[in-house]
Amino acid sequence: MRRPLVAGNWKMNGSRESIEALLDGIKSGLGRVTAIEVVVGAPAIYLSDLQCQLQGTAVAWSGQDLSAEAPGAYTGEIAASMLLDFGCKYVIVGHSERRAYHGESDQLVAKKYAAARAAGLVPILCIGETLEEREQGITEKVVARQLNAVIELEGIAALADGVVAYEPVWAIGTGKTATPEQAQDVHAFIRGIVADKDAVVADGLRILYGGSMKPDNAIELIAKQDIDGGLIGGASLKAEDFLAICSAAN
Ligand code: PGA
Repeated sequence: MRRPLVAGNWKMNGSRESIEALLDGIKSGLGRVTAIEVVVGAPAIYLSDLQCQLQGTAVAWSGQDLSAEAPGAYTGEIAASMLLDFGCKYVIVGHSERRAYHGESDQLVAKKYAAARAAGLVPILCIGETLEEREQGITEKVVARQLNAVIELEGIAALADGVVAYEPVWAIGTGKTATPEQAQDVHAFIRGIVADKDAVVADGLRILYGGSMKPDNAIELIAKQDIDGGLIGGASLKAEDFLAICSAAN
């Protein structure tokens, strides 16, 4: 049985004040949610605040990106060991915003995945097609290419230590959610790629859906056989909405 995971991705939002209030809201409302794992991903500069506020609670915290390199002369970058130093359990890698605005290639994302894993962090690998790619009918080709970059670099065993998030780019922050059937199709395809190489790894792999997941669509999405939780952007910024999604997954 795969334990569902609900991960918040705050992106570049919040202040010390708003984050404190958000965490208070999440912590106080999470009491009955025990069957799933809950994670929040904050801008790196707030991770020490998260460590102070979440230590000893059921909520884990996550970085949103990391460097593929070991500590050294890389101004502005954050190494895996530094995220670990602040108690992160997870780190998001290859989010479509990183791929689009920072030119991250499949190969760089694979290296970041490897760096996270080597440090003992759990990478959340984001993959997904753009609207143009979906309209061209190459969704499967795109997600296979993004996933295979990690498998080629690290071997299939690498996916035993990570999480995959399927995030169709056209659904992120747009209010246009993939239908549960559309999402399930791609999730099953992703699990199939892994199963071709290792059935046990495929069976244990958690594949999250991300892209305008909200309290009112979370139940239907997470009810699908191959959807093991969500990576939540906008709705993770309101404690009430995030908690409602956690309850749905629970
Ligand atoms: P969204 O973002 O829920 O606001 O669509 C999801 C994500 O980018 O991880």
